[in-house]
Amino acid sequence: MIWVVPLLVLLYFTLTRRWRSKNEPPLDQGLIPWLGHALEFAKDVPKFITRMKLKHGDIFTVRVAGHYVTLLLDPHSYDAVIGDPTSLDFSRYAQVLMRRIFSLELPLEQPAKAKTMMKTHFLGKSLSALNSTMSRHLEALLKTEMPQNQRSWKEEGLFNLSYGLIFKAGYLTLFAGERNNNGPGASEVYQEYKAFDSLLCKLARGMLKAEEKKTAQSAQRRLWELLAPAGLTGDSGSSSWLHAYRRLLQEDGVDEESQRKAVLMQLWASQGNVGPAAFWLLGYLLTNPDALLAVREEFGKLEKSGSPLLDRAVNTPVFDSVLEEILRLTAAPFITREVVQEKILCMADGQEYLLRKGDRVCLFPFISPQMDPEVYREPQRFKHDRFLNEDGSAKRDFYKGGKQLKYPTMPWGAGANGCVGKPFAISTIRKFVYLLLTNYDLELCDPNAQMPEINASRYGFGMLQPEGDLPIRYRPRDTQL
Ligand code: HEM
Ligand SMILES: *[C@@H]1O[C@H](CO)[C@@H](O)[C@H](O)[C@H]1NC(C)=O
Ligand SMILES: *[C@@H]1O[C@H](CO)[C@@H](O)[C@H](O)[C@H]1NC(C)=O
Ligand SMILES: *[C@@H]1O[C@H](CO)[C@@H](O)[C@H](O)[C@H]1NC(C)=O
Repeated sequence: MIWVVPLLVLLYFTLTRRWRSKNEPPLDQGLIPWLGHALEFAKDVPKFITRMKLKHGDIFTVRVAGHYVTLLLDPHSYDAVIGDPTSLDFSRYAQVLMRRIFSLELPLEQPAKAKTMMKTHFLGKSLSALNSTMSRHLEALLKTEMPQNQRSWKEEGLFNLSYGLIFKAGYLTLFAGERNNNGPGASEVYQEYKAFDSLLCKLARGMLKAEEKKTAQSAQRRLWELLAPAGLTGDSGSSSWLHAYRRLLQEDGVDEESQRKAVLMQLWASQGNVGPAAFWLLGYLLTNPDALLAVREEFGKLEKSGSPLLDRAVNTPVFDSVLEEILRLTAAPFITREVVQEKILCMADGQEYLLRKGDRVCLFPFISPQMDPEVYREPQRFKHDRFLNEDGSAKRDFYKGGKQLKYPTMPWGAGANGCVGKPFAISTIRKFVYLLLTNYDLELCDPNAQMPEINASRYGFGMLQPEGDLPIRYRPRDTQL
């Protein structure tokens, strides 16, 4: 009978494995049945993908927790994935994440409708209203944090400061409505959100321990409660987009409870990335004096020219280059699609691969183009003028293999599913940095401090976050710039 056990094991392996056919991408299933590479993957995404890329090249299929995921890493070929929403569907995988992270079920076509609606609310006249409401909240919160007449330094973690202030201002602008401007509400939402946010990646991967699950659920429940009134009344304030969103959900027959869950999802989409991005930007400026000087000079000129508010379209090429550069270094979303019908993927080099129905395709622009040494010299280094031409204009032409890249970076996603909040996010970050640099003295507690490491557990979920924080101190300026 002893032979039965190895036979069963053999059978199990045979049945749970897949065999690659000739025209499919190289297949790497890992040794562990079902799980495949899931553990190594979750631990450090870029490390794992780089190892696989060295082994297999720019396209390969790996098994991760029961799913087969084809990773495509040649940026010249990205349009073949982004440009075919019929075979490579966005909504299905989005639904999986919605269910896992937000316990939310929405009709399949709902997010696309919401997106069309949101586009009108985050552009043009509505955007300029949002821009200025956001500025107002940022200024008010900063003043509460640090009264104008205070003369002594206040020490604080830069990540804590950036994320906290921008989150609260964003919450007040987009979720609380005009009549509801009292601070404590925003602070409580922020505290609960942070607890939820710290478990979000594990939630998405279904890797929570029992204790963590409890914490996540209790934060979630509290947030649903806190968000229950958001967008219910149609006040004409800046949160009118949320009212429109609620109406849209109601029209699709989404019940009250699911609406709250959907509002939490929008809180995540709109607040989860901006604060961390502002942190990286300020952190890199403070640890690179020449970059700080260049941005200060640009802002100083703006102030003198009498257009300091920055809610309008103002030209800030140096700041724009710095922002582009920090997004290159710290924006690491996956762009994932589900193969809903068999497809031949044509790579830029002419190679063709068959994609199987039911698999997922995943782009990870962080590895290439963003951190690709063939595209960017010394890709690990922050260079504030990397996205500037000699004449001071914005530089967008970057090359790989002698050919110009259509997407030199992809922090906002791409194609029809790109970020709808991009102009608002940029305006917010610029305003926040401007406020801190022109109205406050801001410096590192330790002048020789380096940027903290990247928290490796967050790759694939948008903006990265630091491991630990960067201690800074600040106080109101005596004189303006
Ligand atoms: C630095 C800040 C931000 C970054 C890096 C960022 C990045 C992204 C990315 C990568 C996606 C996914 C695209 C895809 O899956 O293909 C996305 C989607 C989205 N973003 Fe942003 N985002 C930011 C700020 C904002 C803000 C401020 C808003 C507020 C309005 C916002 C609203 C959204 C929405 C609603 C979606 C979903 C679009 C859809 O349904 O397809 N984002 N964002
Ligand atoms: C920083 O974190 C502490 C708690 O750790 C919190 O009390 C404080 O309000 C935070 N700062 C900001 C600006 O949110
Ligand atoms: C890294 O991120 C994870 C997920 O957000 C979080 O749970 C963990 O506390 C973070 N680690 C550090 C050292 O900040
Ligand atoms: C809001 O800010 C963004 C980014 O700075 C800018 O592009 C846009 O023009 C501003 N919107 C309006 C209508 O002022």
